[in-house]
Amino acid sequence: MKSFGNLLTALFGALTLSQRCLGQTSTPVVYEDPDTGIVFDTWSASEEVTSGGLTIGFALPSTALKTDATEYIGYLQCSSTNTTDNGWCGLSLGGTMTDSLLIIAYPYNNTIYTSFRYTTEYSKPTVYTGNATLTQISSTVNSTHYTLIYRCQNCLSWTEGSSSGSASTSAGTLGLGWAQSIAAPSNRNCPDNIGFREHSSESIFVADLSSEVANPSYSEWAALATKTVTGKCAASTSAAVPRST
Ligand code: HEM
Ligand SMILES: *[C@@H]1O[C@H](CO)[C@@H](O)[C@H](O)[C@H]1NC(C)=O
Ligand SMILES: *[C@@H]1O[C@H](CO)[C@@H](O)[C@H](O)[C@H]1NC(C)=O
Ligand SMILES: *[C@@H]1O[C@H](CO)[C@@H](O)[C@H](O)[C@H]1NC(C)=O
Ligand SMILES: *[C@@H]1O[C@H](CO)[C@@H](O)[C@H](O)[C@H]1NC(C)=O
Repeated sequence: MKSFGNLLTALFGALTLSQRCLGQTSTPVVYEDPDTGIVFDTWSASEEVTSGGLTIGFALPSTALKTDATEYIGYLQCSSTNTTDNGWCGLSLGGTMTDSLLIIAYPYNNTIYTSFRYTTEYSKPTVYTGNATLTQISSTVNSTHYTLIYRCQNCLSWTEGSSSGSASTSAGTLGLGWAQSIAAPSNRNCPDNIGFREHSSESIFVADLSSEVANPSYSEWAALATKTVTGKCAASTSAAVPRST
């Protein structure tokens, strides 16, 4: 109940901050990925809301609507403007930018790189130091879109310093947020050390979960997550000067 109250407060706050918020409805569209057979609840923001459009999806363990899950399989499809401005996009697992576990994703060299981030204020999110783990199931990149299917473990509750929060799957709704940037980050070979600026568009919304989101095949699908993408990060920060791209 507390988190729902927080969410409404956050929602109201976000609305007054930005007219662009609330880009999509709460009702999910059930989507089956043709390559893996994974069934997701998905929510999309249209091209009018964010350049090129964006889709977020969740698949949850079979018991997740009764007992809070600690992990999920995510679908993330974001847009690139052109081959120079191929952008980044972000997901907030608590809805708000602040005090929520954030995931940043961007395409580079035909790969999708990700970084867990956190911030307690509306300023550049720093690398999250908690034990959330992202493992990729599939990724595709072309000139207009990048699509990632991933397993996210220890992602539905988070702690950073004195700030913490969680997403309760048994509540039947998730408070989610997204952000999208037209400009690409710099230093893209090292996801935890990218340079990036404020997003071009963002939204916060309440995502209703349908019964299809929790699936008996979850464990089988989770086992498909075998690829860890860490990038090439220099051993010392002094060597991590962005290469020209
Ligand atoms: C992964 C998700 C997100 C990332 C990585 C992110 C990143 C950022 C960055 C880098 C800034 C600029 C800070 C600065 O210039 O000092 C910013 C500002 C801002 N973000 Fe986010 N953000 C995310 C999600 C969201 C969401 C979901 C919302 C709300 C719906 C949001 C709302 C804002 C607002 C309102 C500002 C402007 C703050 C100001 O100018 O004072 N962000 N964000
Ligand atoms: C890519 O798109 C951006 C934003 O619309 C534009 O400013 C830039 O000139 C474009 N670059 C190319 C190479 O088309
Ligand atoms: C780009 O990807 C190729 C193939 O996976 C890899 O061999 C190469 O090192 C990558 N380049 C950079 C700059 O990451
Ligand atoms: C990660 O953190 C959570 C919450 O603090 C804890 O319940 C879990 O056991 C931790 N997992 C690992 C693998 O350390
Ligand atoms: C790029 O990928 C998206 C999403 O899979 C697809 O809709 C689009 O047709 C593809 N575009 C090209 C040029 O292949």
